[in-house]
Amino acid sequence: MMSETKTFSPKNLLVTGGAGFIGANFVHYWLKTYPDNCIVVLDALTYAGNVENLKSAEGNPNFRFVHGNILDYDLVVNLLREEKIDTIVHFAAESHVDRSITGPDAFIETNVKGTHELLKAAKTFWLDENPGMEHLFQHVSTDEVYGTLEANDPPFREDTPYAPNSPYAASKASSDFFVRSYQETYGLNTNISNCSNNYGPYQFPEKLIPLVITNILESKALPIYGDGKQIRDWLYVDDHAIGIDLIIRKGKRGEPYNIGGINEWANIDIVNLVCDLVDKRIKKSDKLQKQYPNAPTNNGKIARDLITYVTDRLGHDRRYAIDPTKSNTEIGYQPNESFETGIDKTIKWYLDHESWWRKIMSGEYQDWIKQQYTIN
Ligand code: NAD
Ligand code: TYD
Repeated sequence: MMSETKTFSPKNLLVTGGAGFIGANFVHYWLKTYPDNCIVVLDALTYAGNVENLKSAEGNPNFRFVHGNILDYDLVVNLLREEKIDTIVHFAAESHVDRSITGPDAFIETNVKGTHELLKAAKTFWLDENPGMEHLFQHVSTDEVYGTLEANDPPFREDTPYAPNSPYAASKASSDFFVRSYQETYGLNTNISNCSNNYGPYQFPEKLIPLVITNILESKALPIYGDGKQIRDWLYVDDHAIGIDLIIRKGKRGEPYNIGGINEWANIDIVNLVCDLVDKRIKKSDKLQKQYPNAPTNNGKIARDLITYVTDRLGHDRRYAIDPTKSNTEIGYQPNESFETGIDKTIKWYLDHESWWRKIMSGEYQDWIKQQYTIN
């Protein structure tokens, strides 16, 4: 059951997982781009959620933060009623592949059951209580649902069969199917976006790029899984927000859209690049040299010296790559940021936000990371 929507202008958005990496960047993007819209963030503040990510939205009368869980149907349905929500942008998830390997249950709880509770609440409010109300359930998913590519395979298209390999990918694939089923069965207006790897400000330093930046500043090992030749397709986080914005406003309801920037990099190449860029910034700044006395360039070394090959991730997907042709042609999607400018901005952000990442790197995170890999 696929319906066509010419254009849609949301007024009241519920953003789940808005205190996490992509959700917080999306909230900032949206409040800046559509200052008259109201945004309610619903976030359980797991280890990955951080209210500091939303600090600059505090005090904005069009912004509200609610600490709560997407599994709580009553809470969600009441929020939809109270705030007259017309659009749900669903980011909330357990998002780290390595954690899904050591503890898949949380992924099934939040990503599968949580998404289903949200869908049920959306159906109650939009279809049962307010039939005819314009609405959209925008489900934020990943390219990892398509599985892995060989070196010469064409990139993932929207009709590439799902073949998730990690428990994370399987949980996201499952949630995508539930979203689809609510469109097909009940006529709920939905879209699914499948995006490639994001990078940018506020990303939790368990993910490759922020982990490498922050570890360099502390002269800690830079763990490279396996041979480091796995390939990911990297997109600056604001360019993900732009893609979601276009899908919300111009997407055909019921359709999936791939979002990506045609930017494939082998892990080892990206780590080498980040090493060189961090070294360069520190070398030319007295302030940064004082701020980060442990950085390798302050001690006669280079960041690349920290590269350490470790045991490979179980079931490690070799290559992801997105074919964004459909988003380009149907809704006019084009990323704004080049990789050069995006990675430079990102490194500068981490160098300028030491207290943000230091807080995160203490406590639970340190205990978890220590158990992750053995050095080869
Ligand atoms: P993240 O881990 O940084 O943030 C997830 C947020 O969800 C956190 O704020 C957390 O507190 C919240 N959350 C978790 N469980 C919750 C629950 N049960 N109820 C309410 N809130 C809960 O994740 P991210 O990297 O920002 O990813 C956001 C979404 O985008 C996810 O759905 C992910 O699958 C998808 N995605 C991520 C990437 C990427 O490269 N990071 C790429 C494509 C798609
Ligand atoms: P990650 O940022 O976890 O994203 P995803 O697994 O969703 O693609 O990892 C990106 C790539 O970097 C992936 O191939 C695994 C690899 N990687 C390392 O080599 N070392 C690390 O410490 C991390 C976190 C990831």
